[in-house]
Amino acid sequence: MSAFRDAVMPVAEPCAPEPAAPGPSALEPSPPEPGRFCPADYRLGARAFLAQPEFESDCLYVAGGLYGNTLALDALLALYASEAADRPALVFNGDFHWFDIDPAQFQRIERLTAPHRRLRGNVETELARAPLAGDSADDAGCGCAYPDDVDDGVVERSNRILARLRDTARAGRHAAALGALPMVARVRVAGVGVAITHGDEESLAGWRLANDRLGESWGTGLAQCLHDLDAQVMASSHTCLAVADTLEDRGRVLAAINNGAAGLANFAGSHAGLVTRIARHDLGLPPGARELYAARVGETRISALAIDFDRAAWLACFDAQWPADSEAARSYRERAVQGTALQPEAAARGGFVARPVLAQPAPAEQPGVQPDVQPGVQRSGVQQARA
Ligand SMILES: [Fe+2]
Repeated sequence: MSAFRDAVMPVAEPCAPEPAAPGPSALEPSPPEPGRFCPADYRLGARAFLAQPEFESDCLYVAGGLYGNTLALDALLALYASEAADRPALVFNGDFHWFDIDPAQFQRIERLTAPHRRLRGNVETELARAPLAGDSADDAGCGCAYPDDVDDGVVERSNRILARLRDTARAGRHAAALGALPMVARVRVAGVGVAITHGDEESLAGWRLANDRLGESWGTGLAQCLHDLDAQVMASSHTCLAVADTLEDRGRVLAAINNGAAGLANFAGSHAGLVTRIARHDLGLPPGARELYAARVGETRISALAIDFDRAAWLACFDAQWPADSEAARSYRERAVQGTALQPEAAARGGFVARPVLAQPAPAEQPGVQPDVQPGVQRSGVQQARA
C-alpha cells in the first residue's frame, strides 16, 4: 500500500520496554520527505471510480506518462488517427507534462492533448497545488511517492523538476485547469468494463501495478476492486516500467496493464514509447502498428503498441530544455538513449502473449547498447525514469 501522508502516526513499539523519559524523537518518526508519500487527496478506491460516469468506446487508447515528449505525441496522434473504429477514445491518464519546461513545448502539449480525455497524474496535480515552503511537512514534492529503495538523489531531482515545471505552468495560467481534471475514468469496450487510473486502484500515485508488485496486488484488493466496479480491466502507468497480466476470478478473466511510458523508452534496445490499446477484437490494428504483446479478454483485444518517434529530434528537444548535468538529464537521458533492460516477453504475463517478430531492432545510430551490463537499469532505471 502506498504511504499516505495522513497515515503517518507516532507509534510506540508494542513489545518494547517503556522508556523512562522518551524524548519526542523516540516516539515520533520523521515524516516522509517530499516525493516519498501520497497526499491524502490522492486516495481513490472503488467509490472514486464509481463517481465517474462510464462511457463507451470500441477502440480505447490509454497513454500514461507522455512526460512532455512532443515527438512521441505526434507519433501517437498519427497512430490513433489511423484507427478505423467508429467510436475511438484516447485517454491521457496523467503525467502528460514533465520535461516540457519550455513554454512553447508546454503549450503544445496542452493544445494537442486537450481535445482528448485527460486525467491528472501526480505531475499535473502538484503543478496545480500552490507551492509550499520547502520545509513544510505537507510539501509532496513531485508527488511520485517513491518507494524506499529509490535513491534519494532521484527523488530530490524529481522534486526540483516539478518546481521548475510549476513555474512554466503558472506563468502560462495552466495550473488551475490541470488541477480540475478527474483522477480516474470508466469505459465500456465491447461489453468489457475498463477502469483507468494513473497509479493504482488505491491511490493516484500508487505503485501496486508496478512491474514487480502486480502479481501480489491481485489478491490484496485489485481483483475485488474490479469486481466492485463490474469491470475486468485496470489500466495504469505511473511506475514507468511496463507490465501486463491476467487472472481468472469468479468465472471471469481479469486483466491489468501498465503502459510504462508513452514518452520514454520502455524496452531493451528500443527508444519507443508505449500505449495501451483496448479494442473490439474484430477490429484490425491500424496500418504500421507494432503490437508488442496482447491478450484476449471477453470480446476485446488488449494490446501494448509501440510509439515510434524520431529519437534524434526528441533528444535535440530534450537537450534544449535540459542541458547536461541538469536534473532531468542526470535522471533520464541515459534511458532516453539506451532504453531499459526489460524485454517485452518479461512484461507480458498470464494470458498476454509477446509478439517478438514485430519487435523493432535497435536503431543503427545507437552504438554500444548493452542493456545487460547497465548497472541498475533494470531496477534503478525504473526509479530514475518515472515521475
Ligand atoms: Fe506519475
